[in-house]
Amino acid sequence: MKGIILAGGLGSRLYPLTYATNKHLLPVYDKPMVFYPIATLVDAGVTEVLIVTGGPHAGDFMRVLRNGKELGITHLEYAFQESEGGIADALRLCEDFADGDNIAVILGDNTTDASIGSAVARFERGAMVFLRQVPDPERFGVPVFAPDDATRIVAIEEKPAQPKSPYAVTGLYLYDHTVFDIIRTIKPSGRGELEITDVNNAYVSRGALQWALLDGFWSDAGTFESLFRTNVYWARKTTGQRCENFDAYFG
Ligand code: DAU
Repeated sequence: MKGIILAGGLGSRLYPLTYATNKHLLPVYDKPMVFYPIATLVDAGVTEVLIVTGGPHAGDFMRVLRNGKELGITHLEYAFQESEGGIADALRLCEDFADGDNIAVILGDNTTDASIGSAVARFERGAMVFLRQVPDPERFGVPVFAPDDATRIVAIEEKPAQPKSPYAVTGLYLYDHTVFDIIRTIKPSGRGELEITDVNNAYVSRGALQWALLDGFWSDAGTFESLFRTNVYWARKTTGQRCENFDAYFG
């Protein structure tokens, strides 16, 4: 299994924080954001990694990560996405790197303390998505389950106004090599992007989409609110007992 972190885009929802660097290098407590998805991959035994980035600050990644050795990466590559063409457009650039292997993909603004190690070890073919119950599913891809079988996903809806389940499809995915053939068949969505949800729905149509619950904290960090929430979680978790102080400062 090879690992891919998608860290392109302009991060315009976080302007002015992202005027001077890439969103995925902003701090999440004591580390740059991208360290967290890297740790999730490395902890799962996935140490050959490709980072797709883009925008005016792409070069900052190399200053921060260098060859990735300090983070447990054994082989690090970078790819440059020309535009904000969508998550599946960024993934399209990874075909040569994957070279026929299965891939574990994590969106660069997703952090979790759940392990995907056992899913990675068991995964053979098709696709796997990781679900997490959230209070605001309308912000995410949302799974629709079969009325007669609560374990079977029949579709994923991207940011539905009326979510049909309380789950978010998180930005962690396992795919076999056919994902690149699927990407070649999908068309840009209404927002002009190649959507990862369309890729996942292609696996649903083939009866090849598996899912698992992500057992632990999970959040994206692409908005001020979610970035702040993510920082608070990791600050509390990282400082342990010292979070008493943290509470005192908040009064
Ligand atoms: O966080 C999970 C959600 O991520 C999923 O539930 C949704 O199904 C999925 O579409 C995605 O939703 P967002 O609208 O929140 O994705 P966003 O555009 O914020 O992109 C998330 C990351 O993907 C971003 O931090 C970097 C990467 N990305 C995104 C785009 C649009 C790229 O590398 N290139 C891109 O062109």
